[in-house]
Amino acid sequence: MASNSTTTAAPVYSDGVVRAFALVAVIYGIVGMLVGVIIAAQLAWPELNFGIPYITYGRLRPLHTNAVIFAFGGCVLFATSYHVVQRTCQTKLFLPALAWFTFALWNLVIVSAVITLPLGITTGKEYAELEWPIDIAITICWVAYAVVFFGTVGTRKVRHIYVANWFFGAFIIAVALLHIVNSAEVPVTLTKSYSAYAGVQDAMIQWWYGHNAVGFFLTAAFLGMMYYYIPKQSGRPVYSYRLSIVHFWALIFTYMWAGPHHLHYTALPDWAQSVGMLFSLILLAPSWGGMINGIMTLSGAWNKLRDDPVLKFLIVSLSFYGMSTFEGPMMSIKTVNALSHYTDWTVGHVHSGALGWVGLISIGCLYHLIPRMFGKKQMYSTKAVELHFWVATIGIVLYIAAMWIAGVMQGLMWRAVNPDGTLVYSFVESVKATYPFYVIRVGGGLLYLSGMLIMLWNVIKTVQTGKVVQAPIPLVAAHA
Ligand code: HEM
Ligand code: HEM
Repeated sequence: MASNSTTTAAPVYSDGVVRAFALVAVIYGIVGMLVGVIIAAQLAWPELNFGIPYITYGRLRPLHTNAVIFAFGGCVLFATSYHVVQRTCQTKLFLPALAWFTFALWNLVIVSAVITLPLGITTGKEYAELEWPIDIAITICWVAYAVVFFGTVGTRKVRHIYVANWFFGAFIIAVALLHIVNSAEVPVTLTKSYSAYAGVQDAMIQWWYGHNAVGFFLTAAFLGMMYYYIPKQSGRPVYSYRLSIVHFWALIFTYMWAGPHHLHYTALPDWAQSVGMLFSLILLAPSWGGMINGIMTLSGAWNKLRDDPVLKFLIVSLSFYGMSTFEGPMMSIKTVNALSHYTDWTVGHVHSGALGWVGLISIGCLYHLIPRMFGKKQMYSTKAVELHFWVATIGIVLYIAAMWIAGVMQGLMWRAVNPDGTLVYSFVESVKATYPFYVIRVGGGLLYLSGMLIMLWNVIKTVQTGKVVQAPIPLVAAHA
């Protein structure tokens, strides 16, 4: 809107909370990935459990998943959504104090997870392990987040709601729904509750939740980031704005129905499994539509990819996104799943999405965001960003190639039968055969983790040499 005064101080964006979330994201990324490397090593060398219950594999594994998804991924999403919504709505955050409240409470949730999970306090539901008092804290935090985000959209100074906000908004609403429904539980003590559902209904709700945690927490919101930061970093408009709208509605509609592919060949009715498979296959189309839209944003400016390592992170993340969203629909086909399920193929798929897509796009966006939050155009050392890119990419390739080979090998060994119907291999033979691949995974994980340590050094240097800036809100609505 037009300026109405030249005497009052120019209004500024509420970036303090963006800075805070962005910086803690780097720390949580390192902690979560360090725990990932430890559990990867425990799978190769089980003695590393040291007989100490708090650090056994079963307790550290959920700590890893919670730390990387909700602490690292979550803080990246808070930081970027608060940043993007202000810039695209040309206004400061609605109730900045409430945004700081979400920062405090989200960190409290993370600290509670770090304490309770090693103590063995868990609901036992994957990606929803935290016990009921923490679930309540998450709900309060999420409602506050929704108020800040939608309040900012509601008080925007531009008419249009940019597509990135649609993705962030859908993520906030869907996660609220998933969390509340799947966490319905009956408390017995302060640290123990039982699910409100039983039997196959419990399993179905859990995987409706689990799959959509992937779809909304690990995908939709990161696509929102893609739609803002790739155009910004490349200096090009989104390839097709029309495609981005089709992409949004198709993705949001389809994801919700695909959960049963996690329950193939179980007590879940066969028709429900087939619905899950069908929707998973359909999901390939919007996923690739979005990937193509992101990558093609660079059309006419491919040369930038040669010199700009931040852009490399962003674009290569999309190729991993394309890869995992091709692989996922294939794995959802029941006959393919009969081979892949229970094997390390699933873990390979997870990490091509997690390290390749979620990890690389998060890192790329942080490399765009952090220097700007400290009055700089780029990170302290571009060479270190380039090094990080290569170390991380080689780490991912080692990790996922090892898991794919191990997974297909395990699936084939388990189903091999002699002419008389007896099994060719005992289970332990498949475990022995997997050992070298587990060692390669530790190597891949260590490389990925070292990339994060390079990032930490670069972030510290950038903060030290930069200064906190108060970015003014443009008074004339410009295109975000
Ligand atoms: C240094 C990097 C990492 C290493 C070494 C690592 C290692 C591992 C290991 C060993 C497991 C257990 C696999 C099993 O149970 O057989 C695992 C599980 C998992 N990790 Fe990671 N991880 C890393 C980074 C990440 C990141 C960044 C994310 C997410 C953004 C992630 C998400 C997950 C998920 C969702 C699972 C559960 C997979 C399943 O249930 O199939 N990991 N990770
Ligand atoms: C079109 C998109 C996708 C489809 C149709 C899909 C499909 C699948 C299938 C069939 C499984 C194996 C289920 C099983 O046998 O237990 C699976 C597991 C998984 N996928 Fe995907 N996937 C997609 C994209 C992604 C992406 C982009 C990510 C990560 C960012 C991801 C993360 C996971 C995780 C974490 C699991 C393991 C869940 C568990 O058992 O704990 N997926 N997916």
